[in-house]
Amino acid sequence: MKIGFIGGGNMGEALVRGLIHAGIVPPDHLTVYDIQRDRTEHLTRTYGIRAAEGLSQCVLSSDSVVVAVKPQNVPEVLEELGRSALHRPLVISIAAGVPIAVLEAALPEGTPVVRVMPNTPALVLAGASALARGRFADDTHMETALRVFRAVGVAHEVPEKLLDAVTGLTGSGPAYVLCFLEALIDGGVLMGLPRPVAADLVVQTVLGTALMVQQTGKHPAALKDMVTSPGGTTIHGLEVLESRGFRGAVMGAVRAATERSSALGTTAVKKTSG
Ligand SMILES: NC(=O)c1ccc[n+]([C@@H]2O[C@H](COP(=O)([O-])OP(=O)(O)OC[C@H]3O[C@@H](n4cnc5c(N)ncnc54)[C@H](OP(=O)(O)O)[C@@H]3O)[C@@H](O)[C@H]2O)c1
Repeated sequence: MKIGFIGGGNMGEALVRGLIHAGIVPPDHLTVYDIQRDRTEHLTRTYGIRAAEGLSQCVLSSDSVVVAVKPQNVPEVLEELGRSALHRPLVISIAAGVPIAVLEAALPEGTPVVRVMPNTPALVLAGASALARGRFADDTHMETALRVFRAVGVAHEVPEKLLDAVTGLTGSGPAYVLCFLEALIDGGVLMGLPRPVAADLVVQTVLGTALMVQQTGKHPAALKDMVTSPGGTTIHGLEVLESRGFRGAVMGAVRAATERSSALGTTAVKKTSG
């Protein structure tokens, strides 16, 4: 597997690091092209991967190409990619809001495309990504793309129409969790704990709880019941959360972000199609 990265910014670097760390691809099978020369140099120096002089060199030396530029830079990348990808490499795009149809229309007919919605914890190899396949991507292509994103966390295939929901859930999710973390820390400070102590305890509590769910495979409600004794402290705290509509607020946040993603996507498609 030879993978080329067009764009070696935050996400491109996270994927390079994850792939090398997991031993999935040797460094000399990875090539990067970034218009920022210092980014390319940083990646080649840090990870021992190859640098391409231009986009077409990056594409020609790879059988999979990851488009990891900001959405506003995608049109210029697609223009050149369309000319260089005559060998029909697997094209994996992480550009938020750029539909598969737009990618496929710019590439040679038959080019396999996978569109991905990753999230920021990928930067610490703990991301959650959802992947959708285009018309020409078969199971082997999807397996390849899943391996790439499993190097930086968990990854699942979904139909493209669900990527807005993924954006509202796990794309925006880190912000919801951070908001909750901050509120918990403030709660500790309100009750007299020094802020650094409260912060350390809260981060570990959230991390540990998530790990418990992941490692036991138990339903969150079952684990919650285990720490909720009759008439105890936890049920008194939970009553406040329930009476103030905590769950409804969280579900509503996912709905609002999903609807916003869908509206932004519709605008982007209209702009792209002139
Ligand atoms: N960061 C995240 O957590 C996250 C989460 C979900 C999805 N995404 C998606 O991932 C993509 C990349 O995000 P990022 O945070 O990694 O962005 P980033 O840090 O800005 O990295 C993109 C890099 O590509 C370079 N670039 C721009 N145009 C180029 C071109 N024509 N050819 C080659 N390189 C080019 C950029 O240079 P300049 O700085 O000069 O533009 C920059 O160095 C975005 O589309 C974003 O929607 C990111």
